[in-house]
Amino acid sequence: MRYHASLILLHWLSALFIFATFLIGVFVLVPMPDNPVKLLPLWAHMLLGLGILIITVARYTIRVRTLKPLRKVKNPLAKKKPLIVTMAEPVQLLLYLFTILMSLSGTGLALQAGLFADTQAIPADFYAFPLRTVHGTISTILFVLIVLHLLTWVYYQFLRGENALAWMWFRRRKP
Ligand code: HEM
Ligand code: HEM
Repeated sequence: MRYHASLILLHWLSALFIFATFLIGVFVLVPMPDNPVKLLPLWAHMLLGLGILIITVARYTIRVRTLKPLRKVKNPLAKKKPLIVTMAEPVQLLLYLFTILMSLSGTGLALQAGLFADTQAIPADFYAFPLRTVHGTISTILFVLIVLHLLTWVYYQFLRGENALAWMWFRRRKP
């Protein structure tokens, strides 16, 4: 009927972490000058990003070992599916992939900048490291994927009038 409870929990936890990490990246880290005051938001961003890596790998492992909700009823008379529905499943896979790439490129950047070697260090310019541009570009792609994912939900929920969130929410046990 719906995703495994652990997947539902991890889905919402990762969504929360990804939004927070994104917001810190775009609205705090990018506008801030590279000085020691930046250490706190930078490390909050990095620890959240590493948490996302663990959650996403765990999610994907659980996902391939559990059943997906069955909702495809083949109807030969059904209308052709709109593009946003055809794209939904590939977009979900790409979300896993690009979330992992996001965390890995961030970790690579932190290694290049020597942030793990000296936890008090702040480089003069993050753009001196090639992975800074890679991390920034991947963040744009991830953003587009999240928008597409949300549009699928909007389509089901508001245009088709289905309770699409039910797949990704918990069910109260009947007494
Ligand atoms: C950063 C944010 C998000 C990411 C990375 C993400 C990722 C994913 C992935 C990978 C799946 C496929 C399920 C699986 O295979 O485990 C999924 C399913 C789903 N997500 Fe999200 N999600 C995010 C945010 C949201 C938000 C904000 C909503 C609500 C509006 C939402 C609603 C859903 C629903 C309803 C499903 C089930 C879709 C189906 O099976 O047809 N997601 N999500
Ligand atoms: C899914 C996880 C992550 C997301 C969504 C994310 C998102 C972002 C975003 C949006 C930016 C600003 C990019 C721009 O606008 O050009 C950024 C910068 C950055 N991120 Fe991440 N990030 C993640 C994981 C990580 C990890 C794991 C690390 C390190 C361990 C990291 C380290 C950095 C650094 C060092 C910067 C550059 C800050 C600056 O230029 O001042 N990120 N990240």
